[in-house]
Parts: sequence; C-alpha cells; structure tokens
Amino acid sequence: MNANSSNPSNPDSNKNSSATDFSTDAPITNAAPQNSQGQQMWGGRFSEATDSFVAAFTASVGFDQRFARHDIQGSIAHATMLKECDILSAEDVATIIGGLQQVLREIEAGEFNWSIALEDVHMNVESRLTDIVGAVGKKLHTGRSRNDQVATDIRLWLREETDNIIALLVRLQSGLLDLAEQHTDTIMPGFTHLQTAQPVSFGHHVMAWFEMLYRDTERLVDARRRINQMPLGSAALAGTTFPIDRTITAKLLGFEGICQNSLDAVSDRDFAIEFTSAASILMMHMSRMSEEIILWMSAQFNFVQIPDRFCTGSSIMPQKKNPDVPELVRGKAARVFGQLMTLLSLMKSQPLAYNKDNQEDKEPLFDCVDTLTGSLLAFADMLPNITPNKENMRAATMKGYATATDLADYLVRNGVAFRDAHEVVGHAVALGIKEGVDLSDLSLAQLQQFSDAIGDDVFEYLTLEGSLAARDHLGGTAPNQVKQAVVNGRARLKVFA
Ligand code: ARG
Repeated sequence: MNANSSNPSNPDSNKNSSATDFSTDAPITNAAPQNSQGQQMWGGRFSEATDSFVAAFTASVGFDQRFARHDIQGSIAHATMLKECDILSAEDVATIIGGLQQVLREIEAGEFNWSIALEDVHMNVESRLTDIVGAVGKKLHTGRSRNDQVATDIRLWLREETDNIIALLVRLQSGLLDLAEQHTDTIMPGFTHLQTAQPVSFGHHVMAWFEMLYRDTERLVDARRRINQMPLGSAALAGTTFPIDRTITAKLLGFEGICQNSLDAVSDRDFAIEFTSAASILMMHMSRMSEEIILWMSAQFNFVQIPDRFCTGSSIMPQKKNPDVPELVRGKAARVFGQLMTLLSLMKSQPLAYNKDNQEDKEPLFDCVDTLTGSLLAFADMLPNITPNKENMRAATMKGYATATDLADYLVRNGVAFRDAHEVVGHAVALGIKEGVDLSDLSLAQLQQFSDAIGDDVFEYLTLEGSLAARDHLGGTAPNQVKQAVVNGRARLKVFA
C-alpha cells in the first residue's frame, strides 16, 4: 500500500479534507509518528514502520484540529492540576503552560504546521509544545491518555456549540413571539388533513411553532447537563497511578460533574447521540415549518410572503420566486437524521472501553452542529419576517365552511344532542355548497328548515371573529388567549437567557 499525503499548514487549509482524502502533495514517510526531535510518539515496541497509507488512513488531524483550542484548554488545566498535586514542579508547569499558549497563538494565526504523520490534534499540539519548550514538554502527558483527552475535548467543544445553538433558538423564539403578538386577530383556516377545519388566528399558528421550539430548547438544555461531565483523569481506561485530583481539573474547565467510571468515561458517546437526537427532533420541527411556508407561498395558497433575500429566481421562468431557504432546511433535516443513525450504529457493537471506531464520531457530529447552526441562523432572520396576506387568508377561511362546528355547538347549547346537531349542520353545509355560499350567507328561514332550535342570534356564531372569540380558554385561539400566551411565552423564555 502506498499513498501520498500532506502536512497541511493551517487549520483552514484542511477544513474540508477527510480521513480518506489522500490526494495531497507532500509524501509522509513510512514511520511511526515522531516529534520534531525525531523521537517516536509511540513506536518503541514496533519492529516495522507504519505503512504510509495506514498512517494517512488512521489519521484524524484533518478534522479533529477543530478541537485545537479545547485541547489546549484541557492541557493547561491538566498541567495545573499536576502542579497542585505535586506531580510536576511549578517551574515545569509554568514552562509547559507558556508553551501551550504559544502553540495556541500559532494555530489561531494560521501559522501552525499540521502534520498527518502526527496522527491527530493531540499529538500535533504536544509535539509542537516540545519543539518550543524542549524536553519538559514531554512531561505533559503524565497521568493522561489520548482516550480521556479526546473525550474531554469533544465535550468542551460540544458544550460551547450547544450554548451557541440555544442562544440562536432563543433569538428565533423571541422573534416568533413578536410576530404572533401582531397577528392575534389575523384569521386563517386551521387545517386537519390539509382540509379547512376551523378558523384560527395566524398568531395562534405561530405560537404553535413557538411551543415546538420551546421543547427543543428544553431538550438541549437538558442534554447539556450530561455533555458537561468530565472524563479527564480516566487516562487510557482504568485511571492512573499518579495521585491526581480530578475536582481541580473539573473546576478549572467549568464541568458541572465528573464521570464516575473510567471505563465508561473514555468510551461512551451517548452524550453526542443525545445531542444529535435533540437536533434531529428540532430539524424535524423546522422541516414541518418549512413545509408550511413552502405551501403558503404557492400561488394556490398565497398566504404569506417571505423577504426576497431568502428566495431565488429561476434561470428560465422569469416569474418565479422560489422558497429556497425553507426547501433547503427541509432537505437538511434528512442529513441530521442520517448523522444520528451513523452515531447510533457506530456505538452499538463496541465493547468497553475505547475503540478506534470512536474516531468516526467527529465528522457526523460536526456536520450535525454545522447543519443545525446554519438552519437556525437562516430561520432566526427569516421566520419572524414572514408577512401574511390577510385578505387571502380570510377569503380561504370563508370558503371551507370553517364555522360548521360553531353552528353545531350553538344547537347543542339550545338543547339539541351533539350527534343530531352534527346532522343538521351537515344538511345546512350541503345547501351552502349547492347555492355556492357560506353558512353565514344562508337566510334565517333557510337555516330554520333544518332545525327549529335556530334563532336569529345564530349569525353571531357564524362569523369568523365570533368563532375565534368563542374558543376562550387556555390554549384556545381566542385573541385574548393568544395575547396571554405571548406574555407567558416571554416570561418562559427568560429561563434560557
Ligand atoms: N484520534 C483519536 C480519536 O479521535 C484520539 C484517541 C486515540 N487513542 C488511541 N488510543 N489511539 O478518537
């Protein structure tokens, strides 16, 4: 086997490469990973050098360099703990921390020379540290393994991304509350089976979206508690022989708890699966909202407009304004579901403890976070800027006999059994269809031929406004209820701020 591979010179240059992308310029040598002094990072017991293809195939630096900042943050905390516990001298640790800070500066400036021969972000950083500070850099890995190191890096990184995603969700929900507040009297058809069912307000519909997203936020906040547990100190799998104090590192890194079993800590990725699962449910919700916007933008519905900046035209049909952003979000939901399946399948057959399989956790997780973040960024700007076409919504509501249930309820209040009332209204609707008019356009005499329980007050109940106002209880579509739901929503949202 043979393949060429490169030593990418900065994190950005390598962003889109993957472990299977070997088509790069500089060849790597047939050798175990070496630091710049030519010392092998793990090759001591080997009698033959790693095949160069295998070195490139097994490397993860092409993607895990995304953890560089968190890796260095973890290393600084680890070194500080080693000093506090008198495992390393204060002088050595000061030198190590100074060196790590320089490595970080080099990475952030794009001046770092990433090496595929050094396999992953952890060994790249450690090797460069030793370049800078000399032999003392080789003491950093005392009482630690890449297994607890990588598990720690993922959690630090995912915690930060989760916070960013929660902040975007809060921004989106707050925009939806403002939108709902403006439209508690904007009437549209409520649908079941995508058939006109009963009138609702557009504000009520928007508040349904708010509730979906609210539960998604709760799920992510809850998942964050389990992300925010520290594996560091578990070392390779069984713990370490050094007298470490894990509470020191946990405090320095802001973890709210410490993983209680070293075998579990280095191996399980359930926290990432849980995150991706919450992300999948959230994308499913955003996909449903997208689907509604796409339908509502069609000429057949003509219910809403979204700003032009979220649409594109057609290269052949000049009249087209396509809802690309909601369509893409609907499509991207599929990707996130796929990543959830990838992570579940990755984990399902792994015996304790760490296995190299786990290196495959990163790209699906990165893709899930990037896809979700992008979709939320688009939604946070687009969704609150939807403009309903009030007249068209109202006209559509008038067409579907949406107040038929109101007429049945009216009859029930006047002493008719519901099942009988249902039949009476059925006859009235049939007459309306025959005459081509709404229920409220039938005359009193026409209505009374179906039931003598109908009086001249019936028309109050057949108007769209009357229908909305009558659903006046918690969770109903009456304008004052929706106004109250918005007020409550604002208070509930504060929990996440
Ligand atoms: N690159 C590895 C990963 O992503 C880091 C841990 C490697 N540990 C090991 N024993 N090979 O999981």
